[in-house]
Amino acid sequence: MRKKIIAGNWKMFKTVNEAVELVNGLKREVSDITAVDVVVCPTFVNLAVVADMLVDNNIKLGAQNLFWENEGAFTGEVSAPMLKAVGVEYVIIGHSERRQYFHETNDTVNKRLKSALKAGLLPIVCVGENLAEREGGKTFDVVKDHITGSLAGLSPEDMGKVVVAYEPVWAIGTGKTATSAQAQEVHKFIRETLTKMFGGAVADGVRIQYGGSVKPENTADLMFQPDIDGALVGGASLKVDSFAAIVKNSIKK
Ligand code: 13P
Repeated sequence: MRKKIIAGNWKMFKTVNEAVELVNGLKREVSDITAVDVVVCPTFVNLAVVADMLVDNNIKLGAQNLFWENEGAFTGEVSAPMLKAVGVEYVIIGHSERRQYFHETNDTVNKRLKSALKAGLLPIVCVGENLAEREGGKTFDVVKDHITGSLAGLSPEDMGKVVVAYEPVWAIGTGKTATSAQAQEVHKFIRETLTKMFGGAVADGVRIQYGGSVKPENTADLMFQPDIDGALVGGASLKVDSFAAIVKNSIKK
C-alpha cells in the first residue's frame, strides 16, 4: 500500500509572520494525522523558522527548488546540502512555473534531482502538459518526455525515493480541475512508463500526486482513484481551513 502524500506548495506567498501563523494553525488541525504524509513547502527564507516549529511534529518540511552544485559562486542559488542542514526533507523539482518562467528543462531537472538524492532529500518531480498540448492530443507524448527525460539515469533504488507530481498546466491556478477520470488515465500511463524504465516492483511503490486546483470539495474523488497517491496543492494550501480539509478528505473513512 502506498501512503498518500499531501503537500502544500506555498509558491511565492507568505511573509515570515504569515508563515508562522499558517504553521501554527496547521499544527492545531493536522499534527495528529499519521495516515497520510503532510508536507508544507514555504519559500527559502522561511524554511529555518518553519523547521524549528516542526521539530517533533508529523508535518514535514519541503523546499520548492534547489541548485545542483553543492556550493560555489552561484549568486542567488541554494544547494541540496544547505536544505538538508536546515531540516528540509522534501524538495519540489521541475514545477511547471519553473519550466515556464525560469527556463528549466528535463536536463536541468535531472541534475537537480540527482543532487537532491545525493544529499538525502526526497524529491517531488513535476510533470504535465499545457492547454495547447492537451488540445493537440499530445498529453501522453509530453508526459512521457518529462518522465523519461527528468528521471533519466536513476537507479531503481533511487527511483524508490522519488515522488512524481502530475500537474496539468491548464489546471494550475485556473479553478479547472482535471476530472478524476482524466487524472487517473495519465497517472496510470505514468506508472506504466515507470514500469518500463524501472521495473514493476519499483513502479508499484512510487507515489504519484495530482496537482491543479485541488480543493476540499474535489479531494476525495481524486484521491480514491487507483493510481492517485496524493495531492500537490497550491492556492488551497495557503489557508489553514482548506489545507486541513484536503488532508482530512484524503483519508478513506
Ligand atoms: P493550484 O492548486 O493553485 O492550482 O496550484 C497547483 C500547483 O501548482 C501546486 O504545485
